[in-house]
Amino acid sequence: MPHLPPAIEVRNLSKHYGAHAAVQQVSFRVEAGQTLVLLGPSGCGKTTLLRMLNRLVEPDSGKVLINGHDARNQPAEQLRRGMGYVIQQVGLLPHYTVAENVAVVPQLLGHAPAAIEARTQELLRRLHMPSERFAGQYPSQLSGGQQQRVGLARALAADPPIVLLDEPFGALDPITRASIRREFRELPELRNKTMVLVTHDVTEAFELADQILLLDAGQVQQLGPPRELLLRPANDFVRRFFAAEQLALQLRALRLADVLPELSKTGDNQLLSNNQSTPNTLFPTASVQQALEQLSHAPAPASGEAVVWVQLPDSTVQPLTYATLMAAFGRAVRRLAHPSS
Ligand SMILES: Nc1ncnc2c1ncn2[C@@H]1O[C@H](COP(=O)(O)OP(=O)(O)OP(=O)(O)O)[C@@H](O)[C@H]1O
Ligand SMILES: [Mg+2]
Repeated sequence: MPHLPPAIEVRNLSKHYGAHAAVQQVSFRVEAGQTLVLLGPSGCGKTTLLRMLNRLVEPDSGKVLINGHDARNQPAEQLRRGMGYVIQQVGLLPHYTVAENVAVVPQLLGHAPAAIEARTQELLRRLHMPSERFAGQYPSQLSGGQQQRVGLARALAADPPIVLLDEPFGALDPITRASIRREFRELPELRNKTMVLVTHDVTEAFELADQILLLDAGQVQQLGPPRELLLRPANDFVRRFFAAEQLALQLRALRLADVLPELSKTGDNQLLSNNQSTPNTLFPTASVQQALEQLSHAPAPASGEAVVWVQLPDSTVQPLTYATLMAAFGRAVRRLAHPSS
């Protein structure tokens, strides 16, 4: 089988502004379809790093490879057409309506007007901004969060394989933010996309990332899957960065398959009957957090213990109660944090 190059590869990338090193010797890879989250405190170099991927900022040294090709060998305009970009300050064109803003890139690419209109309507509907009400409005008539959603629709309009997002939910209040983020994870447009997303919100990073790159002062502190950073911090900076939200993050970082290794075995599971395959069924890839949320809504039967069903790859199901889940979660955290003991 031919081996595909990573969708994005960055090698020893550095950028200075005068004497200030904004980004220092950063390297990472993002495989096609995966999400990398750039995380770190304000001013640590996240936006600078992101903008080097689409050549809005040119590095001093190092390399960016997109699908194995050096970004410097492609005209910047052409490179950017394959990469949606949601900028930190939203940046809608003030004299264009919502629909015109969303259509900018498809129009540049010469898509048919009817196709552009259909796509715009569909995207706006998915982002809860129905065309009938919003298509003809101007950015100044929208709230910050609505502008941000139009920015997101614009980045996705031409269906680029790579999407770069700089604090895409930054202007939203925490409640809207959590709900838009949930919708965002489930948008069919984003399935199979390669994404690099900037945030300084650790919960957001843990919900969305396959890999997290934690930066401080332009330098990589740790790169890995969320639970690696949480359970095996590489240094004190990493440890302190997650300290305040340890438990909440662990619940999001661990999946059912991590805490209940027996789920991968399919021996004596109960057969799935038709009436169990509905609301209280989860897959082993669900996070412990998701299972807890389901359990809190699950009806408690006569025995008094609420149950959710975990559906295994062979379509059998296994019951899971709060007590089993929490005990297994505690064991998994200890095992992963101290693999030798
Ligand atoms: N055009 C520029 N000229 C000079 N310095 C710059 C420029 N752009 C960024 N910097 C500096 O580089 C550093 C990194 O900036 P960057 O915008 O990448 O940070 P960030 O991690 O995105 O921060 P935030 O979370 O606040 O958006 C900062 O110290 C910033 O002041
Ligand atoms: Mg920034």
